[in-house]
Amino acid sequence: MNNTTKAFRGEILHFLSDPAKDNDNAHQYFEDGVLVVTDGLVEAVGPASEVLSTLPSSVEVKEHKDGLLVPGFIDTHIHYPQTEIIGSYGEQLLEWLDTYTFPTESQFGDSEFAKPRAQFFLDQLMSNGTTTALVFGTVHPESVDAFFEQAEQMNVRMICGKVMMDRNAPDNLTDTPQTSYDESKALIEKWHGKGRLHYAVTPRFAPTSTSEQLHKAGELLKEYPDVFMHTHLSENKNECAWVGELFPECENYLDVYDQHGLLSKRSVFAHGIHLCDSEYERLRDTDSSLSYCPTSNLFLGSGLFDLKKAEEYNVDVGLGTDVGGGTSFSQLQTLNEAYKIQQLRGEKLTAMKSFFLATLGGAQALDLDDKIGNFAKGKEADFVVLDYNSTDLMRVRMNKTKDINERLFVLSIIGDDRSVKETYVMGELTHDRDNKKKSAL
Ligand code: GUN
Ligand code: ZN
Repeated sequence: MNNTTKAFRGEILHFLSDPAKDNDNAHQYFEDGVLVVTDGLVEAVGPASEVLSTLPSSVEVKEHKDGLLVPGFIDTHIHYPQTEIIGSYGEQLLEWLDTYTFPTESQFGDSEFAKPRAQFFLDQLMSNGTTTALVFGTVHPESVDAFFEQAEQMNVRMICGKVMMDRNAPDNLTDTPQTSYDESKALIEKWHGKGRLHYAVTPRFAPTSTSEQLHKAGELLKEYPDVFMHTHLSENKNECAWVGELFPECENYLDVYDQHGLLSKRSVFAHGIHLCDSEYERLRDTDSSLSYCPTSNLFLGSGLFDLKKAEEYNVDVGLGTDVGGGTSFSQLQTLNEAYKIQQLRGEKLTAMKSFFLATLGGAQALDLDDKIGNFAKGKEADFVVLDYNSTDLMRVRMNKTKDINERLFVLSIIGDDRSVKETYVMGELTHDRDNKKKSAL
């Protein structure tokens, strides 16, 4: 403990493992708990009755009455340039890309355009309690520079990459195998490992890359083994059929990526709705992860993700908002839709599993669970204070709850950014709902 030590008191919940495997042993819950942070890292967590007496009297204890402290939410798949097309009407994936996505993404080659949008996007994450995200830029390196410059100033742990796309897209949004390699490499050298930032090699999806370009992506991953790989997989039935036509030599959709060396423990595949058994096996065997994006999957009519099957095959799953195909930056709203998808599948999503997915599950999916995801000693103190009284309806509903399970469930169904009272990054307050700063846009 030293003079940068701070303590936060309130109800505290975090996870040690997956509740689907370890039931009640998977979490720690302190009805009156204290989180101690030194130099931005977790020093201790436990019941107030034990922890307070260990603190020197000089340590300030910030009280959060009616507040629940949880680790910062982790969004394992999102597109920052699509913020302004959220909620665009009427299309499924392939038409939606042509009609809305590509036109808006074409503007991000201009740094002056990209910068305020990167800032607005990061502010949205903070006001929704999301402290780490795996983020798509556009094909333009300028889009990634704008994002990382802003994220660096905020000292947030973020992952981003330039889209690689050399066919089946408008000319002003395509690169070539060589330029995509060169530009990605330059961005890796500039940003990967700088402060809390990481780079993700980001081929958009199989239909927009030639085999030559996917080989270049694989080369980058060989040269930089701790860089991430981020793409889309088996989201929409027409997309899957198209991939079959474009890559007839591959056994299935995942095999396209596999044949180009793109599967590893730092590979994250968004969606994975229409997978066969051998694809789940291959994901597990390579320790690759899926990002489950419920609001997007419903909004774009893509399908119902099979969470139970991913559990059975031991495939790591994180939660993604997939804004702008997804309809909310809020992980709570994302869990609301996840619950309904499991209902439509005849399955139950427990509140504990939900909050695991939004925190430690995401950290494990991103292979960052040595740094973030829970309050284990030495982890980075990114956390959120959730408010049980954020609206009249929430307060009245909470009065009817009997335990933490019920309260979590209500938060995950009717909660949203209004429920996020404060967001902390490395122990520093970065979002204060009741003293909001001016919007960047
Ligand atoms: N597949 C390829 N590109 C995209 C995208 O931008 N959003 C979603 N949801 N799926 C994609
Ligand atoms: Zn996406």
